[in-house]
Amino acid sequence: MKLPFAEEYRIKMVEPIRKSTREERLEWIKTAKYNLFNLKSEQVFIDLLTDSGTGAMSDKQWSEMMLGDESYAGSSSYYKMKNAIKEITGFDYFLPTHQGRAAENVLFSTMVKEGDLIPGNAHFDTTKGHIEFRKATAVDCAIAEAFDTSIQHPFKGNVDINKLEKVLANNSLDKIPFIIMTITCNTAGGQPVSMKNLKDVRALADKYQRKVIFDSARFAENAYFIKQREEGYINKSIREIVREMFSYADGMTMSSKKDAVVNIGGFIAMKDEELFNQASVFNILYEGFITYGGMAGRDMNALAQGLYEVTEFDFLENRIGQVAYLGDKLKEYGVPVQEPFGGHAIFVDAVKFLPHLPREEFPAQTLAIELYIEAGVRAVEIGTIMADRDPVTRENRYPDLELVRLAIPRRTYTDNHIDYVAVALKNVYDRREKITNGLKILKEAPVLRHFTVELERINKEESVSKSHLEYAHY
Ligand code: F0G
Repeated sequence: MKLPFAEEYRIKMVEPIRKSTREERLEWIKTAKYNLFNLKSEQVFIDLLTDSGTGAMSDKQWSEMMLGDESYAGSSSYYKMKNAIKEITGFDYFLPTHQGRAAENVLFSTMVKEGDLIPGNAHFDTTKGHIEFRKATAVDCAIAEAFDTSIQHPFKGNVDINKLEKVLANNSLDKIPFIIMTITCNTAGGQPVSMKNLKDVRALADKYQRKVIFDSARFAENAYFIKQREEGYINKSIREIVREMFSYADGMTMSSKKDAVVNIGGFIAMKDEELFNQASVFNILYEGFITYGGMAGRDMNALAQGLYEVTEFDFLENRIGQVAYLGDKLKEYGVPVQEPFGGHAIFVDAVKFLPHLPREEFPAQTLAIELYIEAGVRAVEIGTIMADRDPVTRENRYPDLELVRLAIPRRTYTDNHIDYVAVALKNVYDRREKITNGLKILKEAPVLRHFTVELERINKEESVSKSHLEYAHY
């Protein structure tokens, strides 16, 4: 008999988590203004808000914490991180930052100016935020398949090369400092980018003499999908694939809270010494001296060790396998989920789940709230609230996908927790037709509003809710 899959680790330390009652949760979520970011973590039983900074570090990472060198300049921890980045990515130059968006802030301060266009596959919200904050425009050139949750495509994170070429050909090149590729593409549902697509982007960038930057938060997961799905890679190691991926980039930003399994940390890495020198000025200004950049020495040590661990095949097989386990369960229960499954999360299609709720009532946020009330599971909306308003017209932007993301922290929950989440969502699905009241915004910030938005439930009369059934044409 073929041996079943089993995790390549055992558990040495546990952290209690607390169940609550439905009555408690109804009260807590009301007080939190229907914003899941406002909940206290102790009010959550299973926390799938994010896979960012929430993973379980290994014994080796914890022991590296004890070896951290906290010198202001030139610490051994800095050199440990530098060596790991060189070995894993091939980049010679790097700057530590306290997390991914800080890396974006530093690099974009160097490279992005007002009026610029930054094309790429779908940009992550902080990336877009940092572009728009500088009065530049993020141009989404993702392939059309990325926005249909039922189409099977092995690399839904790919950029549409023709769309991208049009942007390059039809605009003044000095307004396009670089192309950004997000690997895997979080906004498209944790979907990978193929090696061929990365290679094609490089060729296009060379033709137009533009730089290519990778937003690399989940680069190792991307490499795993290339190994599994792209012809010619099955016998290559994850590290070989990662090296090839980065050979097509001029630089990278990294949120190490994902594919380096640390609770905090990030970096920028690049080929070019001049870019490094320019970015160093902003790193010192915003983050800290170039050999620590907002990180403690101990955190740099754990990060370096994490980079080696995530590029092991067994780690990725377990991690991505657990995400797919949740996806399979949900499919079995008929819940509409994005396919193929993403690397770090399962994305529930809220428009298909709640087709009778108009987009103005934020179906994905409504669904995430219902899931919390049902079972104390915290997910996150990746839909209209997160998409912010158009910076010029100030109208709500309705993205192609209205999703609820169930992000799985690395090495944190067991498959029993996953079973619990799946049944919780099934229960909400079974009573979906009774969910007729969405949400409305009471208060919001001008950018990245989802973190602090305040909402209230819409209370419609029976008759009104019947009439908006007809109105639900999205
Ligand atoms: N890029 C991508 C693709 C991300 O997913 C994130 C963060 C960032 C950049 C920013 O990194 O949080 O370290 O500043 N994503 C988290 C998430 C927050 O939940 O998906 P950060």
